Amino acid sequence: VTRLDHTLAPIALGCWELTTAPQGRRYSAPPQPVIAAKQPFPVELKAGKKYAWCACGHSKNQPFCDGAHRKAAPGISPLRFIPEEDKTTVWLCGCKRTRSPPYCDGTHKEEAVQRAQVSAEP
Ligand code: FES
Repeated sequence: VTRLDHTLAPIALGCWELTTAPQGRRYSAPPQPVIAAKQPFPVELKAGKKYAWCACGHSKNQPFCDGAHRKAAPGISPLRFIPEEDKTTVWLCGCKRTRSPPYCDGTHKEEAVQRAQVSAEP
């Protein structure tokens, strides 16, 4: 996995929202993304263009958002970012477990990810 440079700083982060339990009680358990892929996606990015990285794992347009979170994971928002310079190869996370979103940080190599079921093939 290529170590990424972080000049492509995200301009917004997804956020957790309160969820209502079936009995009407509210709790703050964070929604969990599903694993879209067990490896990162190599992509080219254009300076100044707006991107929305899928944080929920339900998009059929991985690694980017297609709006699927609105129905499948309403508590998870895509991570929107604008690269400051053109990048020919950037590795965006497909497992949705990275600690450095939207970039792959190698977390997908962990056993928990490699043993998990992939929910959606891009
Ligand atoms: S794909 Fe590498 S950390 Fe998610």
